[in-house]
Amino acid sequence: MNKTARAHTNIALIKYWGKADSKNKLPLMSSLSMTLDQFFTDTRITVSEKNEFFLNGVLQAGKNYQRVFTYLKILQKKFGVSDNLRVESTNHVPTAAGLASSSSAFAAMAGAFCACYNIQLSKRDLSKIARLGSGSASRSIYGGFAIWQKGFDHDSSYAYALDETPVMDLHLLAIELNSNPKKLSSTDGMLQAQTSPFFIPWIKRNEQELSAMVAAIKAQDFSALGQLAELNANEMHAINLTANPGFSYFEPDTIHAIHLVQQLRASGIECYYTIDAGPNVKILAQLKNVKEIIKQFLSEFENVKIVNASFGPGLSYLDQ
Ligand code: ADP
Ligand code: DP6
Ligand code: CO
Repeated sequence: MNKTARAHTNIALIKYWGKADSKNKLPLMSSLSMTLDQFFTDTRITVSEKNEFFLNGVLQAGKNYQRVFTYLKILQKKFGVSDNLRVESTNHVPTAAGLASSSSAFAAMAGAFCACYNIQLSKRDLSKIARLGSGSASRSIYGGFAIWQKGFDHDSSYAYALDETPVMDLHLLAIELNSNPKKLSSTDGMLQAQTSPFFIPWIKRNEQELSAMVAAIKAQDFSALGQLAELNANEMHAINLTANPGFSYFEPDTIHAIHLVQQLRASGIECYYTIDAGPNVKILAQLKNVKEIIKQFLSEFENVKIVNASFGPGLSYLDQ
């Protein structure tokens, strides 16, 4: 029996949103993320009679199946193997809802592939092959804070750990407003975003934003970290609105949540938001304010699910 690989989902504080090379998933910018303890994917791959992909116990066809096997065929070619494979994956994160399921999914998939074929790789090489499945997956090989350096080719584009076990007081409250799968995937959204007149300025700001974020983390400066993360996310969503044609992942509840964060802040409860390619909002906060923020969100929104996450670990294998 092959081992099950577990990878935790990461949320970018400095975002990846734009590719230099779609096939190799080479980004136009470096990114920095926080790996979460509360969200993860478990994946097992075994040699089988036919290619099959089960997600959350359901046999997949169409796009999800295509994406997985296009990826696994690339890996098989790279490592000189060719079998039919049975892939079983369970998401402990909403799928395709802008909560970064592809980050934990393809990090776990890369790990499961290596377990299936007994391939031993360094974390750096794991990060590179995870990247080929989904760019953000390059960072989920590591726990804590990770940086994906953009690089310029397959060998130079990988993530590394900034701090795998941070002591910083930082919580991420995932406000699940709508966990249905989005209509526009991250892959397609970031391609369309490149038509914005603000796309080049966005790329140009990356280096300075990344180094400011690294400095905030090193200084354990929550205010600076939150301000930088919120600005970076707003820039990404401004690019989407100004693309040709313009689009947005925001829903009315997303705007409502942004207003609530602004109100909380004005009333002295320090918190910041970041939003990815979907309507759900993530709040950055310190432990002392977590209870009050949850209370306020529960009173403003009906049927909202709130998950209080903090730092999670890197890729691991489950004992069986
Ligand atoms: P997200 O915001 O969730 O990362 P993306 O558009 O980046 O959204 O990626 C979502 C896609 O990733 C899904 O539609 C599916 O094709 C793929 N995916 C998600 N979870 C898994 C999984 N556990 N195994 C394989 N593929 C997955
Ligand atoms: C907004 O890694 O999902 O979450 O490489 O095309 O699979 P592909 O895209 P993906 O994009 C992530 C976009 C983001 C920001 C981030 O995680 O850095
Ligand atoms: Co994704």
